[in-house]
Amino acid sequence: TKTKRILAIETSCDETAAAIIENGTTILSNVVASQIESHKRFGGVVPEVASRHHVEQVTRIIEQALEEANLKPSDLDAVAVTEGPGLVGALLIGVHAAKAMAFAHGLPLIGVHHIAGHIYANQLEQPMHFPLLALVVSGGHTELIYMEKDGHYETIGMTRDDAVGEAYDKVARTLGLPYPGGPHIDRLAHEGEAVLTFPRSWLEPNSLDFSFSGLKSHVLNVVHNQKQRGEETNPANLAASFQESVIEVLVTKTRTAVNKYGVNQLVVAGGVAANKGLRAALEKEFAESLTLSIPPLPLCTDNAAMIGAAAFYQLEQASFAGWDLNGRPGMEL
Ligand code: KG4
Ligand code: ZN
Repeated sequence: TKTKRILAIETSCDETAAAIIENGTTILSNVVASQIESHKRFGGVVPEVASRHHVEQVTRIIEQALEEANLKPSDLDAVAVTEGPGLVGALLIGVHAAKAMAFAHGLPLIGVHHIAGHIYANQLEQPMHFPLLALVVSGGHTELIYMEKDGHYETIGMTRDDAVGEAYDKVARTLGLPYPGGPHIDRLAHEGEAVLTFPRSWLEPNSLDFSFSGLKSHVLNVVHNQKQRGEETNPANLAASFQESVIEVLVTKTRTAVNKYGVNQLVVAGGVAANKGLRAALEKEFAESLTLSIPPLPLCTDNAAMIGAAAFYQLEQASFAGWDLNGRPGMEL
């Protein structure tokens, strides 16, 4: 079969990214321009600032992706772009850039769901064997998704309040750590000990849903009360205790889902999949009993390579977008 190359673009949040992916599995180039420095002083992503950066960067990033792959637009078979969910202004920049490329070079256009991208990042490492279970843990999502085949997503569990990455970022902020806080908490957790007893939110017996706001509030209260009493907070022990609670819940619920659905592959996806403690705990729990797939760190956080990986089955199924493709901030999987 012919080699197929997809130019993929991702601008849903605060990374302007473009990549060229061959057959949904091989990275020919993968360029990510992070805006973190610009958002840091606000302690989070400012939508208007994000859009402005995307406008300034996107053309250059696309050109760089072509250059690094040593390809011309005529070597491409399709253009894929994150259609949603995300910040509407940010999404629109990517969507318009993708349309312009596709229209100018006579290529089909493919709209990709951001979370499908995170899941398919795993395909850049090893084949996906269906049926499988995906644990999606990012700044906006915490979900268990059962996939019977390509493109079929059944959400079997999700957070009822905060996403796990959101809880990480808020706890980090309370400790005065820079945005995004996840990697800082992760680092601190390994320097400390889980000596504090923090709650685990199990919800109803056997529930596959999550809740992290109770844990988050509990941690925030502990820090606040210590401050009021003039006591020192030990950030490393706090981080370790918080992380232990999060990981125990994620691993236990994933185990329940794996057993219930009888899958033999577990794929982990999203920015929090970069967490060293979580990776180690999942490996300990699952590596012997099933095929565990966790993307390498740079493919866990937002990038365009994952969008090119997810777009491949859509290209094979000729599931193309029209010229009316729009950014869909609340898009469902
Ligand atoms: O997938 P992602 O890059 O963007 C979204 O689609 O949300 O995920 C970003 C989230 C942030 O909340 C960030 O703090 C978290 O992933 N994150 C981590 C780690 N690296 C990134 N959380 C915990 N430990 C990490 N090592
Ligand atoms: Zn993401």
